[in-house]
Amino acid sequence: MKGIILAGGTGSRLFPLTRVVSKQLLPVFDKPMLYYPLSTLMLAGIRDILVISTPVDLPRMEQLLGDGRSLGMNFQYAVQDAPRGLAEAFLIGEAFLEGGPAALILGDNLFFGEALGDILEARCAAASGATIFATRVQDPTAYGVVEIAPDGQAVSIEEKPREPKSDWAVTGLYIYDSKVTQLARKIKPSGRKELEITDLNRLYLEAGELSVERLGRGYAWFDTGTPESLMEAGEFIRTLQKRQGLKIACIEEIACERGYITAVQVEALAKNYASTEYASYLLNLARSKTGF
Ligand code: TTP
Repeated sequence: MKGIILAGGTGSRLFPLTRVVSKQLLPVFDKPMLYYPLSTLMLAGIRDILVISTPVDLPRMEQLLGDGRSLGMNFQYAVQDAPRGLAEAFLIGEAFLEGGPAALILGDNLFFGEALGDILEARCAAASGATIFATRVQDPTAYGVVEIAPDGQAVSIEEKPREPKSDWAVTGLYIYDSKVTQLARKIKPSGRKELEITDLNRLYLEAGELSVERLGRGYAWFDTGTPESLMEAGEFIRTLQKRQGLKIACIEEIACERGYITAVQVEALAKNYASTEYASYLLNLARSKTGF
């Protein structure tokens, strides 16, 4: 399974913050936002990742993450020259995907929860169809809303409905089988001239192949697209990390835990972060593994 992080867009709800800086490079407490969706894909066991962003922002992201080799990963980069919708990711990523299945995560989505990686890995291993991840929200009218059958199959999906059929919002994480590129080609631009992910999901739904993974009380989901939600996500990360002394979305730690890199390599990577608390965290991690 390969992964795509879609990290373009205009970020207009965050203006003036995002007038000249990509939303996905803004801080969520102690890390760039991009680290969070990246860590979600890494926890799912995905090692080949395509980062898609604007022509202006993509070089910065490449500078930040590199080719992934130091993490035992493979990162590639592709431009989306205008925000033509989420489903365009599969057209831009066609050569990268080589006709295979794909997980897509939006660059501004942050997921947290026990054993999330195991859930994702199990969903990635599913032979066919698509999986979307849903979470309960207080005001479903502001989201894509999915109605779910008792067996976990999707019954309907509606974008920002006036009268929502459920309070389950569709999050920015999607797993598709190898039909995805072919189906994405069938979608026509919507009224707002975007290739809508909802239309792609509807094609799977109509084929009876759209499953929903419900993320219950033990999970947190933030889309960090407004000043309020960006701040909330940062507070959440700060609070949890402070209580537990464990970092969320520390990409070097995940790479080490998954056995992609050694503790000695983690120690070397700590040098990228000067004398910060992040660097000390990596050094402590490396020491705990090597016993020195
Ligand atoms: P949105 O939050 O829907 O759009 P945006 O980031 O442009 O922000 P705003 O509405 O404030 O103008 O996008 C969700 C995520 O998807 C975000 O990480 C940006 C990304 N995105 C793309 O990369 N390309 C696109 O064509 C679109 C629509 C979004």
